[in-house]
Amino acid sequence: MLTINNLFAGYGKVQVLHGVTIEVPKGKVVTLIGSNGAGKTTTMRAVSGMIAPTAGEITLHGKRIDGLESYHIAKLGLAHSPEGRRVFATMTVTDNLTLGAFPRLTGSRPRGDVAGDLERALELFPRLKERRMQLAGTLSGGEQQMLAMARAIMLNPEVVLLDEPSMGLAPILVEEVFRIIARLKSEGVTMLLVEQFAAAALKVADYGYVLENGRISVHGPAEKLRDDPAVKAAYLGGGH
Ligand SMILES: Nc1ncnc2c1ncn2[C@@H]1O[C@H](COP(=O)(O)OP(=O)(O)OP(=O)(O)O)[C@@H](O)[C@H]1O
Ligand SMILES: [Mg+2]
Repeated sequence: MLTINNLFAGYGKVQVLHGVTIEVPKGKVVTLIGSNGAGKTTTMRAVSGMIAPTAGEITLHGKRIDGLESYHIAKLGLAHSPEGRRVFATMTVTDNLTLGAFPRLTGSRPRGDVAGDLERALELFPRLKERRMQLAGTLSGGEQQMLAMARAIMLNPEVVLLDEPSMGLAPILVEEVFRIIARLKSEGVTMLLVEQFAAAALKVADYGYVLENGRISVHGPAEKLRDDPAVKAAYLGGGH
């Protein structure tokens, strides 16, 4: 479904990723684990076209997407819920969600039932439903984070990149976000997940990769990584 092969990317002269290879099979949840600054967000930005890779190949459904504009990549069915609640502050919740579906209207994929998907997104996130007419900028941080995730789902994506969807959420909402991820998984949505709660991410994921200083150090089935002493010691202490 999504393959990232030997990806190099960074910012200006600073190389952050030094040959990252990740495979996200159809219908699977793959999690990318790593310390702060390891390059997780940079990986997601390079995949969704927010930054241009300097080398390597990225394919979606076998089609090369590296170097394409992010809007074009979205039209091909790749959604990105970015780190740090990037919502359109002066638009309502509903308008933010509708905008998430916009690339469907002009792409070559079937556009599907946008109105039905809006209802479904609001059912999935009752907090947002209550606030559907509220301006996104006036939502709490946690609510904005959920809106960013819901907006990504509105693309009806082939693959969704979730960068820290639980960041800034109260514990009860963290659980809700993981429940939503599990539900999307059961519906067959393919995901690449980055989460501060690595243990919880490895519970919902099928497969995991550990990123260290821009390189993959370990990868394997999620249950194996959960039992790996080095992974446990470095990433699974405390949290969830
Ligand atoms: N816009 C930018 N310009 C310059 N350097 C950046 C930029 N964004 C990130 N970096 C640097 O790239 C490196 C990797 O950052 P990245 O955001 O990918 O890490 P991360 O694994 O997502 O970390 P975190 O867990 O803290 O979110 C860091 O050293 C960071 O300072
Ligand atoms: Mg990050």
